[in-house]
Amino acid sequence: MAKALKTIRNLAGSAPIDAALILGSGLSEAGDLLTDKITIPFDDLEGFPQGGVSGHGKELLIGQMAGKRLAILTGRQHYYEHGDAAAMRPALETLSELGTKTLLLTNSAGSLDKDVLPGELMLISDHINNAGINPLIGEQAEARFVNMVDAYDPELRAATHAVAARLEIALKEGVYIWYSGPSFETPAEIRMAQTLGANAVGMSTVPEVILGRFMGLRVWACSSITNMGAGMAQENISHTQTKDIAIYGAEKLKRLIPALMEEI
Ligand code: HPA
Repeated sequence: MAKALKTIRNLAGSAPIDAALILGSGLSEAGDLLTDKITIPFDDLEGFPQGGVSGHGKELLIGQMAGKRLAILTGRQHYYEHGDAAAMRPALETLSELGTKTLLLTNSAGSLDKDVLPGELMLISDHINNAGINPLIGEQAEARFVNMVDAYDPELRAATHAVAARLEIALKEGVYIWYSGPSFETPAEIRMAQTLGANAVGMSTVPEVILGRFMGLRVWACSSITNMGAGMAQENISHTQTKDIAIYGAEKLKRLIPALMEEI
């Protein structure tokens, strides 16, 4: 982590970063929004996401958006890549060391709600950790007992709804359930998730939210809906479909996030 921190400060200067944004599957082009941008490949940053999943970028971008200094990770690591739920911890700790107080997370997700359709955005209000794994297992500090009430910052959520209404972007809100993947869910698992009160399903984000709250960051997360959950529609769920449909959500996020940055 210290090495990555040094590399970033050498290349991007040591002015504090206001917020960090992680881009989900098919959403990496949202990185275009930064001005005065510095690009650092993850390969040059110890502890940052290695390997990778198609549809994800492999770079850290640091630049300006709406008068704020923002760090963007154009991709993330998923638990299903190696079985390490804490894989994003070094990157998040580095961003926190750089001054980040707010963590913005995006993902692609399946909808469990007939009223939330592919191409739409769903702001996450809460989650269900159905994978049953926790990135803080093994952590010794007392802070490991993280309070997860209002983990998804209520003020930021209210600000997001106001911004979305102003921009005329339809924005739903709901509970995200984490399945480990990489296989998609069965129709029976989707029915179970609906019964449990979830509105969207995905394979990421939850570990980062837990880590972010552990570090005392203000957390915000938004899903770009790419498909209906397994068995809910006559469609063939695939990663290709996720990447293809994500562009619609990406277009909306590219309008929403800069406006939200003004409120941060
Ligand atoms: N399930 C899990 N993860 C996903 C889905 C899904 O249906 N769509 C996009 N990511």
